[in-house]
Amino acid sequence: MRIIFATHNKNKMKEVRAILSDVADSIVAKSELGIDFEPAETGKTFAENAEQKAVGIREYMLKHDMLEDDDIIMSDDSGLCVNYMLGMPGIYSSRYLGEDTSYDIKNARIIKELQYAEGDERAAHFTCNICAAFADGRIYHTEGIFEGLIAKEPKGENGFGYDPILYLPEYGKTSAELPPEEKNKISHRAKALHQMHDLLLPMVSADGHVVPQDKEVALSEPPFREDRRPQ
Ligand code: IMP
Repeated sequence: MRIIFATHNKNKMKEVRAILSDVADSIVAKSELGIDFEPAETGKTFAENAEQKAVGIREYMLKHDMLEDDDIIMSDDSGLCVNYMLGMPGIYSSRYLGEDTSYDIKNARIIKELQYAEGDERAAHFTCNICAAFADGRIYHTEGIFEGLIAKEPKGENGFGYDPILYLPEYGKTSAELPPEEKNKISHRAKALHQMHDLLLPMVSADGHVVPQDKEVALSEPPFREDRRPQ
């Protein structure tokens, strides 16, 4: 079984390999197969965007005669959702205030938007949705959430993006002040990847092939679906 992950990000690939290594014979980034196609992301949710990317790459591979029976195309979509801003920047996290705007500016703006918010009003979380599109058409999603509060000032040098402004009360630190190994254990992406690991494990036979859909092992929990999201 081969997992093709739709990303260019080397750190993401490291994390994916570390968590999913025992479910797949090989885990490659799409670029390692020479795929530079970028499917459009026009969804209204993280799940829709993750699915558009995974299904888009699956269709590309099928069209170019690259798809093998045991392939699983995987993709993720993440972002920061700020309650006080009605969930913004959300799926627009990388595009918020413009794709080329620095995170110093994006983070300062979010802090300013919350200048009158106190306590729980500052609640925010990162979300990561992962979609797995099987060669035979099956589609599964998992989703992880990493909760905190918007800090009153950015702090920390680790991580990237909005990490300096997500304050984690139980650690007394922002996400950017956590050592990367620590963040990688508790992040939204790690949670979604661990769920995906547990979901895929019963679908892979001992000889490394994907178990056909009609022989699929019953799951103790139904796979995550956007319309079944807990309220
Ligand atoms: P992606 O879907 O993983 O590429 O994430 C989209 C955007 O969400 C990133 O460009 C960041 O702005 C934001 N984001 C996602 N995950 C994180 C994180 O772990 N830390 C900080 N920002 C993040």
